[in-house]
Amino acid sequence: MYFLYTIIASLAVFFILKWLKKRRYCTDLRRLDGKTILITGGNSGIGKETAIALAMRGARVIIACRDSDKAEKAVREIKLKSHSLNVLYMELDLANLSSVRDFCKSFLQREKKLDILVNNAGMPGVLEWTDNNFSMCFGVNHLGHFLLTNLLLPRLKECAPSRVITLTCSSYKYQKLDFQDLNYNQLPFFTYCRSKLANIYFSQEVARITEGKGVTSYAVHPGKRSFVQSGWTCHYSILFRMLVQVIMWMFFVPCEIGAQTVIYCAVSDEAAKHSGGYFIDCRPATLRPFARDAAVAKKLWEASERLVNLA
Ligand SMILES: NC(=O)c1ccc[n+]([C@@H]2O[C@H](COP(=O)([O-])OP(=O)(O)OC[C@H]3O[C@@H](n4cnc5c(N)ncnc54)[C@H](OP(=O)(O)O)[C@@H]3O)[C@@H](O)[C@H]2O)c1
Repeated sequence: MYFLYTIIASLAVFFILKWLKKRRYCTDLRRLDGKTILITGGNSGIGKETAIALAMRGARVIIACRDSDKAEKAVREIKLKSHSLNVLYMELDLANLSSVRDFCKSFLQREKKLDILVNNAGMPGVLEWTDNNFSMCFGVNHLGHFLLTNLLLPRLKECAPSRVITLTCSSYKYQKLDFQDLNYNQLPFFTYCRSKLANIYFSQEVARITEGKGVTSYAVHPGKRSFVQSGWTCHYSILFRMLVQVIMWMFFVPCEIGAQTVIYCAVSDEAAKHSGGYFIDCRPATLRPFARDAAVAKKLWEASERLVNLA
């Protein structure tokens, strides 16, 4: 009898893992020759896999990274794997608003085109502060990208039809924004959830203000039912990393799969019909009603303008 139970339990575990890790690829094979794509944090994880896939399709890919050693190494790997020499990196630290401004200045001087902006870089839940005294998650994940996108928006409009893709997370649903304390920095996971909810409102507002101007905007959760085996654990202790490594190996999908919905939003005509939408697993997904509140999105946009001194 025990033998039978063991077999049933093993089969159940097998099918649950198979369901969790089911892979879905972007089946739109459109090429991106002549397009310029900027990916923040493209030196690791999902960003690096996105860079490889888009460079393979012929795009000029620029990864914007804070660490030059990591970035140079990633550029070599992206070139090698994509068989493209049209890959480069530029320095950008999203935790420092002066760095974001400097980056945009030199980007706009050097690059005449920007067809797709991928707001990928992200910090997991950590209780740290940026150089401008914002909580790390809110500052990097939301405010840094908010300023970056605003400063690059004129170039995106010039290059219309163009796209803004912002990486969010399905864990947005566990928190709501508190406008009295946008910098909430108390529980690491919740500070992350709030920054990812801010990414969703941000993406919706980009779609609203650029409507009819040829720019479309997408918020992407890169996993599916599960999460992605990326480098985010490097911000935690060795013990935590070892524990999570086992869970990641068992339940999470590889970065190559995590990048598929980003690639889909970069190339698909179908996606373009859903500007302002939320995407999982290469298709539009439904948000909780509170995350679709246009008034909150507008309020966050205006608050963010004040916080980054965007006149
Ligand atoms: N992994 C998942 O399961 C999952 C699920 C949902 C959403 N996401 C989202 O997917 C995106 C990519 O994450 P990932 O999983 O690929 O994690 P990752 O491997 O840790 O990559 C994060 C990237 O962001 C960069 N970054 C962090 N702080 C930065 C800063 N101040 N300035 C510039 N770049 C900075 C990192 O650079 P360094 O190497 O220098 O640190 C790294 O390149 C994130 O927005 C994340 O929230 C991931």
